[in-house]
Amino acid sequence: MAVQECAPSWLQLLRRLRRLLLLPLPLLAAGGARARWSGEGTSLHLQSIFLGRCAEYSTLLNPELRDKNCTAIWEAFKVVLDKDPCSVLPSDYDLFINLSRHSIPRDKSLFWENNHLLVTSYAENTHRLMPVCDILYGRVGDFLSWCRQKNASGLDYQSCPTSEDCENNAVDSFWKRTSMQYATESSGVIHVMLNGSEPKGAYPVKGFFADFEIPYFQKDKITRIEIWVMHEIGGPNVESCGEGTVKILEARLTEMGFQYSCVNDYLPVKLLQCVDHSTHPDCALNSAAVSTQREAPLYYAKQSVSHIIPLLLALASATQM
Ligand SMILES: *[C@@H]1O[C@H](CO)[C@@H](O)[C@H](O)[C@H]1NC(C)=O
Ligand SMILES: *[C@@H]1O[C@H](CO)[C@@H](O)[C@H](O)[C@H]1NC(C)=O
Ligand SMILES: *[C@@H]1O[C@H](CO)[C@@H](O)[C@H](O)[C@H]1NC(C)=O
Ligand SMILES: *[C@@H]1O[C@H](CO)[C@@H](O)[C@H](O)[C@H]1NC(C)=O
Repeated sequence: MAVQECAPSWLQLLRRLRRLLLLPLPLLAAGGARARWSGEGTSLHLQSIFLGRCAEYSTLLNPELRDKNCTAIWEAFKVVLDKDPCSVLPSDYDLFINLSRHSIPRDKSLFWENNHLLVTSYAENTHRLMPVCDILYGRVGDFLSWCRQKNASGLDYQSCPTSEDCENNAVDSFWKRTSMQYATESSGVIHVMLNGSEPKGAYPVKGFFADFEIPYFQKDKITRIEIWVMHEIGGPNVESCGEGTVKILEARLTEMGFQYSCVNDYLPVKLLQCVDHSTHPDCALNSAAVSTQREAPLYYAKQSVSHIIPLLLALASATQM
């Protein structure tokens, strides 16, 4: 179960590399530090990043939240920094949630598993959709790690526990609590982005989405659920709609009485993937058109292709200049 955050995986790699380079040389020579826990240590400048993000979100991104008190939100959050790193419960964040929560616009929710980079770029910093890390309470913790030392007061900057070390760790409990809130308050059309190239299956049957989001959906507020199974450009194509774990998800939603649809390689998201693979045959225009026709009425397919061709021609000539 990966920590649900919107950090692109290359960023995490960079951070790991940076941590490695910051280690004292003797430790590197000895094959690395013996960290107590398997997760990243507390992020440097945790408080400044938290407060800065809160201020930016509540003044620039969503000025309706200008009355939020970021100092009070931080103070509610930091009570977990005084707790044993393996004894932090989701409910320890109740006051934090109480102070930071705000309504989620209808039809804007985006749930996901194993799709960090794509979710971040498609959501477009709240402008297109709002995954949990584009909600104030998710935003302040996104990319970050935090925990107290095992036996002492003060933060552990070397490592923090993950679910491999103990269930009730500070970061997982944070994402459980924020996920529950996010699912409870989502309404209208619910979007779900899954990764059909993930070897363990597109829908983790145990995970944040399965265990802390789906059970909190409010049936009377949700009109339908739209699942997008995205595959990496060039594959592998491990699972698609109606297959394997996606089938399990579909059956679960049906049983719960939800109306849902499932689309393979939803075109707007696929076009974003193709930005990085523009010469790959799967990104050729006619194959994009084929996948549009599968999921939309013909007039829409024709219309969108006729808009895309001039755009791509313009882009192509611009890059040649
Ligand atoms: C914000 O919260 C802090 C801490 O609880 C408090 O001291 C301060 O007075 C609050 N500011 C406003 C403007 O309410
Ligand atoms: C959260 O706020 C509501 C009022 O909006 C209050 O009734 C409730 O007790 C608060 N919960 C916590 C944990 O502070
Ligand atoms: C989807 O899963 C594959 C296999 O784990 C991974 O390599 C890829 O980066 C994932 N895609 C995204 C957008 O995270
Ligand atoms: C940490 O606390 C445990 C139990 O309280 C104790 O057994 C152990 O010796 C302590 N370890 C250190 C390094 O102080």
